[in-house]
Amino acid sequence: MLSGRTVVLGVTGSIAAYKIANLASSLVKKGANVHVIMTKNATNFINPITFETLTGNKCLVDTFDRNFEFSVEHVSLAKQADIFMVAPASANVIGKIANGIADDMLTTTIMACKCHKIISPAMNTNMFENPIVQSNIQKLKDYGYEIIEPASGYLACGDVGAGKMPEPAVLESYIMREIAMEKDMKGKKVLITAGPTMEKIDPVRFISNHSTGKMGYALAKIAMLRGAEVTLVTGKTSIPKPDFVKVVNVQSAKEMFEAVDKEFDTQDIVIMSAAVADYRPKEVATEKIKKKDGEAAIELERTEDILATMAARKKNQFVCGFSMETENMIENSKAKLEKKNLDMICANNLKVEGAGFGTDTNVVTLISKNWIKELPMKSKEGVAKDILDVIV
Ligand code: CTP
Repeated sequence: MLSGRTVVLGVTGSIAAYKIANLASSLVKKGANVHVIMTKNATNFINPITFETLTGNKCLVDTFDRNFEFSVEHVSLAKQADIFMVAPASANVIGKIANGIADDMLTTTIMACKCHKIISPAMNTNMFENPIVQSNIQKLKDYGYEIIEPASGYLACGDVGAGKMPEPAVLESYIMREIAMEKDMKGKKVLITAGPTMEKIDPVRFISNHSTGKMGYALAKIAMLRGAEVTLVTGKTSIPKPDFVKVVNVQSAKEMFEAVDKEFDTQDIVIMSAAVADYRPKEVATEKIKKKDGEAAIELERTEDILATMAARKKNQFVCGFSMETENMIENSKAKLEKKNLDMICANNLKVEGAGFGTDTNVVTLISKNWIKELPMKSKEGVAKDILDVIV
C-alpha cells in the first residue's frame, strides 16, 4: 500500500523512542521507503543501527556527519519525503520547530520539508501542560502541522496523566490516512452500514445472522483512505473499528433504521452492506420464554426494509445495496435493484468458495441497470477498492 512512498521519521530523546522501531518495521513491510532522523539525545534510548537494519537506509543524526554529503542530504531528503512524522516529539524539539530553530539534522530537514508534517508530543504531564509548550503546540497547528494528542496513562516517570505517545499502530494510521491512497473521494460524504442486526426474543435469546462486518468495515476504511468523510453504522461485531471514521453502534434493525434515517439526506454515497435480520419477534418477552409442549411460541413480524425506504427518497445520493443469494444470483439481485430503486447492487453467491460471511475474501458481481461487472476473488479490502472505483 505504501510502495513508492517515502516516510521520514524524526525520533527525539524520550523513552518512547524504542517503540518507533516497530513503526519503522511495519511501514517497510507495507512497501514504504523509510528514513529515520534522530536527535543526539534519542541515541541514548535506541541505537541508530536498529533503524538502519530495519529500513536499509542510513539513520541520520548529526548535520555534520563527514561520512556522507551533509550539505545536500537534508534538502534531498526533505524533497523526497511524502510525509514527515516526529514521534516521540520532546518539548525541546517542539519548541525548536515552532520557533524556527534548525540546529541539527532533524530540525534542519523538517524546516526544508514541504510535505504534510505530523508531531506526536511525548513528555511528562507537567511539561505537556506547561503554557509555553502548549503555546508552541498551538503555533505549530497554526502553521499547518498536524498534532496527535498524547494519550493519558501511566508515564515512565511514574506520574499518571497526559503525555504518553500513542502506540505505533495509531501513529501508523495517521501516516496511512495521509499517503496510502489518492484522495479521489475528498469532499464526499459516505454512509456505510455493516455487521448483523440482532433482534431480542427475551432477556437471553435473539435472532441474528453470521455477518462479521468485514466487508462493510473494509469499505469504510478504503473510503476514508481515499479522503471521504465516512459514517459507519454498525451492528455488533468483534473486529476493530476503522480509524478516522464516525462510528454509530446499533443492535436492532429499528436502531439501524433510525441511525441511517438521521444521516441519509446529507450523504453523497450510501452503501448498505449490513445483513439485516428480515424478521423480529412481535413482542420482546420480559421474562425468559418458557417452552409450551416442547415448542417455543414466538410470533414474528418483518423488520423495516431500511434500504428500500431510504432509496425511495433519494435525491442525488448514489445508493448501493448488497445481496446474498444461494441461487439465481443475477436475476434475484437485478430484481432487488429494481424493487429497491438502487443505483448498484453487489451480489454475492453464498455457494461460491471464498464469498460471503466470515471469510477474508469475497467474490462479488456488481450490477447496475445497464451493465454487469464480475469481480475476481479478492481480499475484502481489494473488493472494497473495486466497488469504490466503480462508484467514483
Ligand atoms: N436490507 C435492508 N433492510 C432489510 C433487509 C435488507 O436494508 N430489512 C438491505 C440489505 O442490507 C442489502 C439489501 O437490502 O443491502 C438486500 O438484502 P437481502 O437480504 O439480500 O434481501 P432481502 O430484501 O432481505 O430479500 P431476501 O432476504 O428475501 O432475499
